[in-house]
Amino acid sequence: MANGEIRKVLVLGDRGLLGTELKRVLGRWFRVAGSDLPDCDIQSRKSVESVLDRVRPQAAINAAAYTDVDGCETRVALARRVNSEAPGTVARACRRRGIFPVQVSTDFIFSGRARRPYTEKSRPAPLNYYGLSKLEGEKAVRKSAPEHLIVRTSWLFGEGGKNFFETILAKAAVPGRLGVVSDQVGSPTWSRHLALGIARLLLAGASGTVNVTNTGWVSWYGYARYIVSRAGLPARIVPISSRELSRPARRPAFSALSPERYRSLTGQALPSWREAVREYLRTKKRDG
Ligand SMILES: NC(=O)c1ccc[n+]([C@@H]2O[C@H](COP(=O)([O-])OP(=O)(O)OC[C@H]3O[C@@H](n4cnc5c(N)ncnc54)[C@H](OP(=O)(O)O)[C@@H]3O)[C@@H](O)[C@H]2O)c1
Repeated sequence: MANGEIRKVLVLGDRGLLGTELKRVLGRWFRVAGSDLPDCDIQSRKSVESVLDRVRPQAAINAAAYTDVDGCETRVALARRVNSEAPGTVARACRRRGIFPVQVSTDFIFSGRARRPYTEKSRPAPLNYYGLSKLEGEKAVRKSAPEHLIVRTSWLFGEGGKNFFETILAKAAVPGRLGVVSDQVGSPTWSRHLALGIARLLLAGASGTVNVTNTGWVSWYGYARYIVSRAGLPARIVPISSRELSRPARRPAFSALSPERYRSLTGQALPSWREAVREYLRTKKRDG
């Protein structure tokens, strides 16, 4: 399908971190409709087909997922249904209607043993059930709809959902020491910039798999320190190891994604993660 023909976009999972921004940002170029639980459960083919037939978009972005990384370790069946199987259901229903499916995926499909950013051609090797379930979701989309877009992103922050940035802002408002892991490195990404990136890819008629993150990389510790210094908060951030934190799911040590393909498709990279942090703080201050 020529993506230039896109006039209306449906966002599935429109109340989540990314979905909230997609609805806001895509409206600059397209008519936008959204759906989320309980109106549309992507696990149900009927539910998906009914929203597609009601909205009749030219593109549908699946931003719905089971995103609790530690939760996926125990709720494996739910992770499989929502993250592995439902993307195939959505993509199939889209293909049958001539709708262009966009699936959102994650840096957690990688092992984290690399020393340079992962490209779209790097070999996935997930360390946890969340990453595995999302990787299976990518495969289901490729199999169900040969014409598709898979957008891989990482470490999202923004309005509309629980995330590390907001947790740090809340916890660091109180004086004292706050331990944050220093042995996991990735690219923090503002959901608003990601939404803008997805819009640009749609406008460029892109397809296949594309990494979309803010550029540069940092550890959670370095990221937390930057947030605290820019926001002027009193807590002191101290480095700890993943072992000390002892969470149920293993996480990749290094999961930055290369922006090269995105840059060549759209002509520009997204801003750096530092710029994104500063802009998000300015936006929060302005909007109260
Ligand atoms: N957050 C990150 O750091 C991150 C990093 C890399 C990639 N991603 C990917 O980016 C995408 C968006 O993530 P996000 O952070 O915006 O997630 P989110 O805030 O958890 O939002 C996901 C939305 O999907 C809904 N949902 C869950 N199960 C559903 C179902 N069966 N049917 C319909 N809707 C359902 C959720 O509703 P409830 O809240 O009611 O469950 C929620 O509104 C996901 O594909 C995720 O894997 C996220």
